[in-house]
Amino acid sequence: MTNIILLGPPGAGKGTQARRLVEARGMVQLSTGDMLREAKTSGTEMGNRVAEVMARGELVTDEIVIGLIAEKLDTVEAAGFIFDGFPRTLAQADALQDLLAAKGQDLAHVIEMQVDDAALVARITGRATCASCGEVYHDVTKPIPADGHCTSCGGTEFTRRADDTEEALKTRLMAYYKQTSPLIGYYHAKGLLRGVDGLAEIDAVAADIAAILES
Ligand code: AP5
Repeated sequence: MTNIILLGPPGAGKGTQARRLVEARGMVQLSTGDMLREAKTSGTEMGNRVAEVMARGELVTDEIVIGLIAEKLDTVEAAGFIFDGFPRTLAQADALQDLLAAKGQDLAHVIEMQVDDAALVARITGRATCASCGEVYHDVTKPIPADGHCTSCGGTEFTRRADDTEEALKTRLMAYYKQTSPLIGYYHAKGLLRGVDGLAEIDAVAADIAAILES
């Protein structure tokens, strides 16, 4: 059982690489961002509150996201989990350790995707996602095919996220440096931290991650 965390700022490529790992290794991606976007569409009061917080680029409360992850760990069986966008605070990191320990599991690696802030604006504002399967595209680096069909599922609808604006990105980056980056030291101290160059091409990043998993 290999459980890993993909750690990095918005646009570092966590979702892109998580999808690769799901395809290549049959691991299960647990993205709190995706789970929250699903909750948002429920139309409940909680869903509406979550939508407002996310659109501003701030973090949703620890209680909500820990609850979402706990529920998945209770109900989903996997050969390995990829935690994508979770944990994002020290409280979430402690909770994850307890949740895994309760299942007799632990973390194999925490992979920090190292990028440059300057690259993130272009990545985030150019992103589009297939509405059917979640395949991630980019206007410049991975454009939607000219025939308008998703390469992965053939879908023809693509969405852009409400928080993928320059304004919201500033808040998201601030939240990352203030609340999430302390996890780099936290996992380094535990001997779990591995770094990859997130500015390299998508295939090269995938190869670096594969080498870590095979080490
Ligand atoms: P979340 O959905 O987790 O978003 P994020 O962390 O901001 O990360 P992104 O999904 O924006 O980026 P990514 O690293 O996955 O990049 P991607 O692969 O798409 O969170 C959204 C919000 O939900 C948060 O702001 C918060 O409000 C809330 N939330 C979620 N989890 C929470 C938690 N645990 N606690 C509290 N609140 C939480 O790539 C981006 C673009 O770059 C794409 O277009 C892609 O094609 C391109 N690209 C990727 N890799 C490369 C490459 N190597 N070279 C060139 N282009 C590339």
